[in-house]
Amino acid sequence: MATKNSYIHLSSINVVVIVVVVISCVNVSQLCYAQDVPIVKGLSWSFYDKSCPDAESIIRKQLKNVFKDDIGQAAGLLRLHFHDCFVQGCDGSVLLDGSASGPSEQGAPPNLSLRARAFEIIDDLQARIQKKCGQVVSCSDITALAARDSVFLSGGPDYPVPLGRRDGLTFATREVTLANLPPSTSNASAILAALATKNLDATDTVALSGGHTIGLSHCASFGNRLYPTQDPVMDQTFAKNLKAICPTNTTNATTVLDIRSPNVFDNKYYVNLMNRQGLFTSDQDLYSYSKTKNIVIDFAVNQTLFFEKFFVAMTKMGQLSVLTGSQGEIRANCSVRNSDNKAYLASVVDEDAERFEEL
Ligand code: HEM
Repeated sequence: MATKNSYIHLSSINVVVIVVVVISCVNVSQLCYAQDVPIVKGLSWSFYDKSCPDAESIIRKQLKNVFKDDIGQAAGLLRLHFHDCFVQGCDGSVLLDGSASGPSEQGAPPNLSLRARAFEIIDDLQARIQKKCGQVVSCSDITALAARDSVFLSGGPDYPVPLGRRDGLTFATREVTLANLPPSTSNASAILAALATKNLDATDTVALSGGHTIGLSHCASFGNRLYPTQDPVMDQTFAKNLKAICPTNTTNATTVLDIRSPNVFDNKYYVNLMNRQGLFTSDQDLYSYSKTKNIVIDFAVNQTLFFEKFFVAMTKMGQLSVLTGSQGEIRANCSVRNSDNKAYLASVVDEDAERFEEL
């Protein structure tokens, strides 16, 4: 696990921007991150060291069990963190069920294909941590750590995650959700523009798209490349096989995102792009577009470089508009804000009554 001991120790992080320079590797499964990564005020590498030192090991141990049965769940958890962070920041808002204020983010079109099991896994992790430490670790931090462990346990890099996110009190509307998650039919120029609004540059964009080295897609997400006419960029055999899986672009079937190594977090996604076997327009166009083509090639020939840049980009993404300090709350149940949580409110009233009796 990427404990802080594996990296430069940072205990008093309270400035707006600090610079982490990692100077050594502890073992071969960890990278030497010779990178500068800015950390936002309020997050730190040692946030739960005193209040819940076992949080990270509880998550890793449980996810190892989950993935032993079904490694596919790793992809669902990685995507969940991305969908959390891009819409209203990494505040766990995607986890919230709908409420009187309207339908939740989960009901917006890009989130309909998030795995139901991913939400259950986060709830289960939160219950395990809460049992051990009480209500101190946020659902948004658990989601970020689960994404990191999904990458690592699928064969990718192990990397530290700055912690201290708080959970949001609101969720975004359907319109806001749609506006923040670009569709897979976008070309590279549109994807770059969408990610630039979140201060993610071309290298970040190509690295994050490498998340498509694991997981599945439904026909509807790439049907535009097969019907009514086939995208001329697509490899012929690849297209033929996809048409067999998806006889129409509304067929409710799935296929793997990375044909070379569908369950392994590696750099084969970029090799696919160079062979015109990228699944989405938003993937394949990264190799056609002049501003991103060379980055694709660099990652295809150098997996270590991809892992380094992925860590940097994930660390940036994982800090988008985070709530810290006294903002938001620590949810007692990841799918319900505390003010809507009857069981939680009843327990707070009981505790208050006990304290009153003691006086
Ligand atoms: C850059 C823009 C992105 C677009 C347009 C995009 C689009 C999509 C789409 C359409 C799917 C398939 C949904 C379905 O049909 O079931 C998908 C799956 C997935 N995406 Fe992305 N994505 C993007 C970025 C990312 C990022 C940044 C990550 C993580 C770092 C990521 C990780 C995943 C994973 C792991 C899956 C598979 C999920 C599963 O198997 O349940 N994506 N993406």
